[in-house]
Order: sequence, then C-alpha cells, then structure tokens
Amino acid sequence: MTPPFSEFDEIGYWSEIKLEIVRDYASAYSRILTSKKLPHIYIDAFAGAGQHISRQTGDFIPGSPQNALNVSPPFREYHFIDLNAEKAGYLQGLAGNRFDVRIYEGDCNDVLVDQIFPTLQYESYRQALCLLDPYGLDLKWEVMFQAGQLGTIDMFLNFPVMDMNRNALWRNPDKVSPGQARRMTRFWGDESWRSVAYSTTGHLFGLPEKESNETIAEAFRERLVKVAGFKRVPVPLPMRNSRAIVYYLFFASQVDVAENIVNDIFTKHRGRGRSE
Ligand SMILES: C[S@@+](CC[C@H](N)C(=O)[O-])C[C@H]1O[C@@H](n2cnc3c(N)ncnc32)[C@H](O)[C@@H]1O
Repeated sequence: MTPPFSEFDEIGYWSEIKLEIVRDYASAYSRILTSKKLPHIYIDAFAGAGQHISRQTGDFIPGSPQNALNVSPPFREYHFIDLNAEKAGYLQGLAGNRFDVRIYEGDCNDVLVDQIFPTLQYESYRQALCLLDPYGLDLKWEVMFQAGQLGTIDMFLNFPVMDMNRNALWRNPDKVSPGQARRMTRFWGDESWRSVAYSTTGHLFGLPEKESNETIAEAFRERLVKVAGFKRVPVPLPMRNSRAIVYYLFFASQVDVAENIVNDIFTKHRGRGRSE
C-alpha cells in the first residue's frame, strides 16, 4: 500500500534517535529471551502509521512497529494500537496476513488494561517489551502502574515534559486551567505532582517557584520504582531540540541486565539530538 503523505508524521531528529534506541534494545531483548526459550511479545501502544517522514532528509523512515517486525529472532506476538483509524489501517497493511500481528484501533489506555495485560500475569511465563510513546499527556498512570505490578514487562516511556510545561506546569499555577491540571493528574496518578513541581521554600513575587525539568523527571522516576514497583529505572535520557528538552525517554524493568543494556545504549546516544 502506498499511503499519501498526509497520513504520516514528520518527525524530528530526537524521534529518530528514540527509534534507534528502542530498535537496539528490542534486538538484544529478543535475542536473550529466545536463548532462554521464554515467550516474549512486543506491544506498541501509540503505534503510529508504521512509517514517518524524516524532517532532516524528507525521506520515509520506518516507525517503531516496522522496526519491531524486523527484529531477529522475532517476538512471538506483536500488538499494535492506535486511536487513529487511518493509521490503524496502515498498520494492518504492514501486517498483511501475518498470524502473529494484532492491530487494535482504539484507546490504548483501555486496550492495554482490558485485553493485553491480563495475558501477561506472572504465572503465564510470558514477558513483554512495551513502548508507550504518546504525543503528550495522553496516557493514564494506571497503565504504567499495572505494567510495574505485573513484573513481566520492560517498558520504554516518552515522558512528555514539553506538553506538561506548555499546558500544566506554568510559572503561576493559579492560571492553569482545571482541565489541563486534570490531564496532568491522570498521567501522574495523583496530585503529588503539584508539590514536586513547585518549591515551597523560595518565593518570587509571592509565587511558588517552579522546579526544573530534571527535578520533575527524577520525581517521576522515583514513582515508577516506589509506587509502580519497577525494580530498575535508570536515569532517563533527555531528548532535545536546539531550544529545549522535548521529552525524557524512560526505561523501566525488573532486571539488572536490562538496565545495564539500556544504560549502554543511552550512553551511546547521550548528547545527540540538538541539531534542530
Ligand atoms: C508519537 S506517535 C507514535 C510514533 C511511533 N511510536 C513511532 O515511533 O513510530 C503517537 C501516536 O499515538 C496515537 N494516539 C494518540 N492517542 C492515543 C491513544 N489514547 N491510544 C492509542 N493511540 C493514540 C496517535 O494517533 C499517533 O499515531
């Protein structure tokens, strides 16, 4: 199927780096689990259309679902979810009549919790690599919490700090609309982001002072460990354009070896992604 340009996201250099990171880890993960004869599946919750247009070169580049399908040795199953009907249609075209690929057109917050996570109970011996890659604050904490509690999931997460800063974490918190604050709470899981994001000690012109991106990301990293129950959550990788941090790429797992592999991959890519 040759899709029209309009269906494709034009992606920045930082998204290309993310694709490389997830692809490199997926290859290592599938190799290790295959050698242990453990059934492992790949989940792409905000899957996209399967390919993008590079803002740098104007060329088509494979998206995360296409990269996952190319991993060798393969995963046992692939689950691709997208809310957008046309993108789900392109994913279906990508999958063809492969029996090991399932496409869901819907809200991944529901699909994951209702249909996919129940197949990943600890007793099932099934493991999963799950990519949670929203544009912004479109993800519910419940999904990340369940992923940690199951104990069978390795997760990459796009922590959308730019959406947070633009809409919810304003210097003057009183001016933030209740709707945007609710989006933040839905992602964070409770209202504790308010005390994390605003310092109660220093006051500038009577306003609480807003904390740095690093402080907010570190508090979320601690939440993934202490509340969701992931045992290994390395310091996330800030993904930058020339002006600001666009998002943090988090990884969360239960095992040391996974953390070590991702730390090596993060080290390789740290410092890239400032060219736009
Ligand atoms: C950043 S793009 C994904 C890019 C893809 N992971 C990649 O790297 O190739 C985010 C996608 O999430 C989809 N989306 C937005 N909200 C969603 C939701 N609640 N459930 C599932 N998909 C959603 C959008 O249609 C869009 O295609």
